[in-house]
Amino acid sequence: MTAAASNGAGPRIAVTGRIPQEGLDMLNEAGLVDAWVSLEVPTVQQVHDIVHGAHAAVTLLTTKVDDAFLDAAGPQLKVVANVAVGYNNIDVAACAARGVIATNTPGVLTEATADIAMSLILMTTRRLGEGERVIRSQTPWQWGMFYMLGSGIQGRQLGIVGMGDIGCALARRAKAFGMKIAYSNRRPVAPALEAELGATVMSLDELLSTSDVVSINCPYNPTTHHLIGAAELATMKPTAFLINTARGPIVDEAALAAALNSGEIAGAGLDVFEEEPKVHPQLLQCENAVLIPHLGSATLETRAAMARLAAHNAINVLSGGIPPTPIPVPAG
Ligand code: GLV
Repeated sequence: MTAAASNGAGPRIAVTGRIPQEGLDMLNEAGLVDAWVSLEVPTVQQVHDIVHGAHAAVTLLTTKVDDAFLDAAGPQLKVVANVAVGYNNIDVAACAARGVIATNTPGVLTEATADIAMSLILMTTRRLGEGERVIRSQTPWQWGMFYMLGSGIQGRQLGIVGMGDIGCALARRAKAFGMKIAYSNRRPVAPALEAELGATVMSLDELLSTSDVVSINCPYNPTTHHLIGAAELATMKPTAFLINTARGPIVDEAALAAALNSGEIAGAGLDVFEEEPKVHPQLLQCENAVLIPHLGSATLETRAAMARLAAHNAINVLSGGIPPTPIPVPAG
């Protein structure tokens, strides 16, 4: 289910999933586009069929770019342009070993993703998912002085794990809501930014044990797999909330479900899951979990900007230029 379009000349560009028309229009100007048109995610074999013979591959975060993908594409492939900021779906070293440039879409989705993280903070602390379920299930309810009380966030500490662009954008929002900001990161952020955000750098241990809300905003890679597991959840306050808008496998979902069920932590807000689109069955039973289907960058404007940036990256490489947002190649 692909659509070949355009001018019939120039390089062949494979697009492994539906992307906004803005991006397709740019790609169609640059070459012969073969795009997956179904809303369903293509199988591995279907992806390999689309990319076979392509000079550029525009990929979604559901596309695994590994040696098998690169073999299927062939030696003419020059660029893999991911339409996502996260690139854990791409073996960047394998691409580099074959001279293939990999790119992602940082920046354009920062604000939308920070909005979703802030929304999840408010939804979990104020029990909005539970409240919505009461109304929709037509469960009898009555306003009451002690009915469905949540926790206020003013003056509370937000601990941000991973202070990149999205972490900083979340810090700005949370500060405006009166929260104090702590963060842990591989390196402290620039002093001027730290001062602007009123942010205090901490070790992960200290951040987990002192924060009222912990938000995961770091990239997913082998060093962050299950960064938050049973031991880390045990160090959090029983009144604390965990938010994850980064990648599911950074949190051990089974351990999180156990911590939510036993009251080890107060609640969680998740936009991402370990085995999307599957969700751990025990999480589905947790009233104190807000669960949404990977919506971080899901606005019309943001998705269009992501498609344009990915197209820009692919086109620049195809024309021998430098792409605006290449993914750094890991050392070694
Ligand atoms: C979304 O999750 C992205 O990485 O762009």
